[in-house]
This record gives sequence, C-alpha cells and structure tokens, in this order.
Amino acid sequence: MTPRIPLVIDTDTAADDCFALMIGLTDPRADLRAITMVAGNVGFEQQVENAFLTLEVVGRRADVAVHLGARQPLEREWASATDVHGDGVGGQRREGTETSSSEPAEEALVRLAKEHAGELKIVAIGPLTNIALAVKRDPEFAANIAELVIMGGSINARGNITAAAEYNIYVDPEAAQIVLDAGFRSVRFVTWDPLSLRDAVFDAAMIDRIRALGTRRSAFFVTANQKTFDFDVAVGVGGSIHCDSLSVLVALEPSLVLEENGYFVAVELQGELTRGATVFDWRAVAPPANATAIESIDRERFVDAMLGMLAAD
Ligand code: RIB
Ligand code: CA
Repeated sequence: MTPRIPLVIDTDTAADDCFALMIGLTDPRADLRAITMVAGNVGFEQQVENAFLTLEVVGRRADVAVHLGARQPLEREWASATDVHGDGVGGQRREGTETSSSEPAEEALVRLAKEHAGELKIVAIGPLTNIALAVKRDPEFAANIAELVIMGGSINARGNITAAAEYNIYVDPEAAQIVLDAGFRSVRFVTWDPLSLRDAVFDAAMIDRIRALGTRRSAFFVTANQKTFDFDVAVGVGGSIHCDSLSVLVALEPSLVLEENGYFVAVELQGELTRGATVFDWRAVAPPANATAIESIDRERFVDAMLGMLAAD
C-alpha cells in the first residue's frame, strides 16, 4: 500500500479552489493535514465560510483544521476578484458552525513542515502571502518541504487580472519573489497561460456532463462554478478554468504531467503595466533554474479524475 502524501492546501477559497479542496479531501492518495486561508479571490470571511461549506459537501466536517492566514498581501492593497467569482459558492451556505483553528496559518505551515520534514507537499492555489510569511518565520521551512506546487503566473504570456499578470502573483508579487528566493527543493508551476488556458477549461458540454452526475458534489460544483463560468465565457475563454484542481492533482499524481521544464523565474515588482508578471528565463545563459513549469498534462486523465471525484457521494 503506497503511503498517503502529507499535504497542505493554501487557498483563497472560491469556486475553483473549492473543487481543488474536494480533491484533497477525498483522494485516497492525499493525507490533507491542513487548509490554510489567504487573502485573495473574495472577502476573507466569505472564503472561510466557503472552505467550511466544502468540507460539509464531501462529508468531512471538523475533520481537517482550517487555519486563518494573511488578510492582506505583504505590501500591496488587496485586489478583489469578486467580479469573477461573486461570493465563490453561488449563494450556497453551510449548515454547521465549526470554527477555524486558533493556530495561525503561518505557524501551522512551519509546524507541519517540521512534523513531516522532507515529505510534506504544499499546493498553493492563492496569493503566496502565507508561504512567504512561513519562509520568513522559519529559515528551515523551505528545506523541510518536499514539493511546492504553485498555481500562478504565465510563461512570458497572457495574464488575467492584467494583460501581463496572473491574479495569484499579481495580488502579492513580493511574496512570490520571496518564495522563489527561498530555496525550496522543488517548485512546480501550474501556469495560467499556456497550461491552464489550454488543458484545464471546462466548456458548457463538460458542465452538462457534471450536472448529469446527479450527486451532491456535482450539484455543489455547478452552482458554485456558474458565476465564474459566465465571467470566463464573457471575456472570451470557452468555459471555467480548473487550474486549482489541476494543481492538487499533479501533486498527487505526477504521471499526469507529460512535459515539465526548468526555468529561472523572477517576478516583476517595479512595473506599472507589468506588476506581477512572471518572467520565465528560457535562455541558455539564464541563471540556474529555481523552478519548473508544467508544460503539458494528460487532459483525458485530468477530466476523468475530476468527474470521478464529482460522481462519488
Ligand atoms: O488566476 C487564477 C487563480 O486566481 C486561481 O487560483 C483562482 O482561484 C484565483 O485564486
Ligand atoms: Ca485560487
């Protein structure tokens, strides 16, 4: 029996984050040790509610601790994405009254990294503020982490919140640079462009397949996803993008990845038009790689994993 993977998901829980949490909470390969909350998509308190609702939907209320993290980026003003996600769950509300842990997110991250030294995987699917705070709190934190999967950035390509920058990096670019400088043994990017825009889009036909599953999970998905789906279609993407779910799955199932390459990655901190852009240095003269970018995945297996999770109850 392959041992389960000790995992922390750091999240700005709304829509796609909820579905990523559902994978981490239900996949037999995952030992989800904590959920840590970071300022991102929608109001912080709403994100916390969304996380607890997600725990309820998959029948894991009170099973996994929710730790509250940064309510603001390190230096920048918080940039909302409520225009994209609404409240993040399409108006659905939890029944329970569970409360978050009294242990702050950065303390939980440092503690769990020590407890699972060399084995803990972190999947960061929101701005990197909490990860940067953990790096600053404990000089050994990065060395204790087996792998950091980041949903964020684009490989010298399209952004989403601006033409140049993807949201998670844009919101806290200083945090992203601290993380890239921290010396993690493995940093793997699931980028917005090209990877997610090409391989992680669920169009109307896919949403219909999910709706037809007829489970509590699929009903939750369709309702929580609707606002984001409508926004994405309105801006010219062919459906909702499930980059966060893909990020959890590549941490659990590396064979989903068909191609991955090393880059020296840096974040634009000074630019007006380019704040938060991720520069992936592809040149032969580039400094040594500090990260890899997943360039392609087995989309059929990705879709099967998502449908399989949503079909269960
Ligand atoms: O740019 C996409 C990312 O920003 C996703 O993680 C989405 O949930 C938002 O956090
Ligand atoms: Ca997210």
